[in-house]
Amino acid sequence: MVQNVASVMTELEPEDFHLLSGVEQGMRFSEYVNREKLTEFSRLSEENVDYRLDRCADRELLERKTMQYEGFKLTFEGYDALALHTFVERDTIEGFGAPLGVGKESDVYEVQSYKPMALKYHREGYTNFREVMKEREYTADRDHVSWLYTARKAAEREYEALETLYPDVSVPQPIDTNRHAIIMEKIDGVELSRTGLEPEQVVPLLELVLDEMQTAYREGFVHADMSEYNVFVTTQGIVVFDWPQAVPTDHENARELLTRDVDNIVSYFQRKYPAEVDDVDVDAVADAVATDSFESLAGY
Ligand SMILES: Nc1ncnc2c1ncn2[C@@H]1O[C@H](COP(=O)(O)OP(=O)(O)OP(=O)(O)O)[C@@H](O)[C@H]1O
Ligand SMILES: [Mg+2]
Repeated sequence: MVQNVASVMTELEPEDFHLLSGVEQGMRFSEYVNREKLTEFSRLSEENVDYRLDRCADRELLERKTMQYEGFKLTFEGYDALALHTFVERDTIEGFGAPLGVGKESDVYEVQSYKPMALKYHREGYTNFREVMKEREYTADRDHVSWLYTARKAAEREYEALETLYPDVSVPQPIDTNRHAIIMEKIDGVELSRTGLEPEQVVPLLELVLDEMQTAYREGFVHADMSEYNVFVTTQGIVVFDWPQAVPTDHENARELLTRDVDNIVSYFQRKYPAEVDDVDVDAVADAVATDSFESLAGY
């Protein structure tokens, strides 16, 4: 797991961030940034670059490699530190809190602002990357640049979906985004997968989820990773989260993905509550959702 970068943040000085951001700029051109280019990218003197490189490498914000030249690249912790620093500079957040969840492709933490928020660091492209690292000496440039890029793109996509859908669809309110990170409203709820519903709650709750999917479709998005793990049940109702893979409704696979989403969620309810949920015509429900005519499960 990627370490929590908050602990080193207090030790870092403004010029450490200049250096890290210099390495980030250099990584657009090569996997490892040549030490000699770093004075230019970071606008620090040579001595200062040397001093800061050691400080940042000691804290595992950078990784060093000696090839034909001595090169440096950001670790995910270094990238995390840059994003966190930006949020603090913008006064989006004031403090860092406990982990809220570790997903396959993200780390989510509580952060302090005028109220508690959730900070989600995207890790897409990194998990596989770690696997590859174990297997062989790593040299391919293209692959490496891709973890920064892939994670940043995922954060962008998720933020865009949240901005479009909030507040018409019940999603966490988006607050800010930078690099591979997004700040959103912290949801106080329990993941659907961990709830045990009373019999009379089962069908209404499933209908609530389908209704949110319908509004999302009307607003232009299919979630495309709908499951009991991406729905919170709260005292107010439900919140659908985890949107980085959302697909616009004009995408050629949108309808197919909508049907798969409907199937996933209906199947979950059927497996867990067979006495409450009868056979459902998933295709017909998906059609209704797509044409904005879904009202209840009666008749499907
Ligand atoms: N806004 C939020 N408020 C509170 N907790 C959150 C919030 N967003 C995410 N979490 C917690 O973090 C966990 C991971 O979040 P999310 O599902 O968005 O990431 P993920 O990496 O895509 O997960 P996976 O791929 O495993 O489904 C969630 O299961 C949830 O417990
Ligand atoms: Mg998830």
